[in-house]
Amino acid sequence: MIQVAILGYGTVGSGVYEVLKTNRDSIKEKTGDEIHVKYVLDLRDFPGDPVEEVLVHDYEKIISDPDVDIVVEVMGGVEPAHTFAKRALEAGKSVATSNKAMVAQCGVELSKIAREKNINFLFEASCGGGIPIIRPLNNALTAEVIDEITGILNGTTNYMLYKMSTEGCDFDEVLKEAQEKGYAEADPTADIEGHDVCRKIAILSSLAYGKFVDFQEIPTEGITKITAMDMKYAKELGMTVKLLGTSRKVGDQVYAQVAPYLVGPSSQLYSVNDVFNGIFVHGNMLGDAMFYGSGAGKLPTASAVVADIIEEAKNLNKNVMYGLSEEKMDLMSVDNVEE
Ligand code: HSE
Repeated sequence: MIQVAILGYGTVGSGVYEVLKTNRDSIKEKTGDEIHVKYVLDLRDFPGDPVEEVLVHDYEKIISDPDVDIVVEVMGGVEPAHTFAKRALEAGKSVATSNKAMVAQCGVELSKIAREKNINFLFEASCGGGIPIIRPLNNALTAEVIDEITGILNGTTNYMLYKMSTEGCDFDEVLKEAQEKGYAEADPTADIEGHDVCRKIAILSSLAYGKFVDFQEIPTEGITKITAMDMKYAKELGMTVKLLGTSRKVGDQVYAQVAPYLVGPSSQLYSVNDVFNGIFVHGNMLGDAMFYGSGAGKLPTASAVVADIIEEAKNLNKNVMYGLSEEKMDLMSVDNVEE
C-alpha cells in the first residue's frame, strides 16, 4: 500500500481526496497497489467530514512517519509550503504539488533534491489546471526547439472577462462568482493582478527554453483596469479582451510579458471562454500546438495532481521527473542567469 499525506484541505486538497476515492479501482490497476491517504494536514477542523479520521494539525507527525511515501502539497503560497516540501524530499518522500508560486520560485532547488534522493518532485497541476502541459513540454515535444508560448493561463480572469463581455457583468460580482465556483486563489489578488499568470508563464518558459526565467523580471499587468467601456469598444471592433501570458526566445534572450490583449476571431484564443485555458506552443519543426481544457477548479486541478501521485507511486525509488535531464536542470538553475 502506498501511503500519501495531503497538505491543505482546501479546494484542491479536497479534490485530490475525492479523485483518489472515486477512481480508486482504476488507479489501483495502474499502479498495481492501493493509494491510501494516511494524513491530511490542515489548521482547521472538519467535523462530520470523512477526512476527520486522518486529519492532523502538526506537520511533524507526517515528516517523522517513515510509512509516508508521497507528500501532496496543495496549500498554496511559498511558505511554509516550500519548507514542508523540502523537508519531505530530504526525508526521501516524493512530492506532488499544484503550487505555482512555490514552483516558480523554488522548483529547480526542489527538483535537484529529488534527483539526489532518487525520488520525484512533480508539478503538472501548477500550470493549466487539468490540461497536460508540463509533461508534453518535456516529453512529446522534446524534439522541438521551442521559441514561443502564448496562453490564457488563468481560469478566474478568463471567466470574468467572458462574463463581462457576454453578459455585461460587473467586475466585483463576477469575481465573487469565480470565487464561489472554486476557481480563484485564496487571495484573488494573484488572479486579477496577473501574478498567477506571471508564475505560470515563468515555469513554462523555463521548461520550454531550458533557461531560468525569473518571474520577478516579467512585466505584469492584470485585468483590474478593464472597464465595461473597454469591453464595449472591443465588441464594436468584433474583438474581445483576454489576459495573456506570452514569452518568446530570441537568440539567448527570453522576452516575457503578462497583459490584457485585444483578441480577434482569427485567433483560436478568441474562443477560449469561461474557465478554460488555451496555450499555444510554437516549435521550429512542429509549428503551433494548442493545449486546451479546464484551467482551474477543484476536480480538473486535482486530476492533474493525482496523475503525478500515480507517476510517483509507479516510480517510488526512481527519479523520472518528466524526463528532465540533469543538464537542463543546471541550465534552469538560478545560478545560471546572466546579468
Ligand atoms: N486561480 C487559478 C486560476 C487556479 O484561476 O487559473 C488554477 O491555477
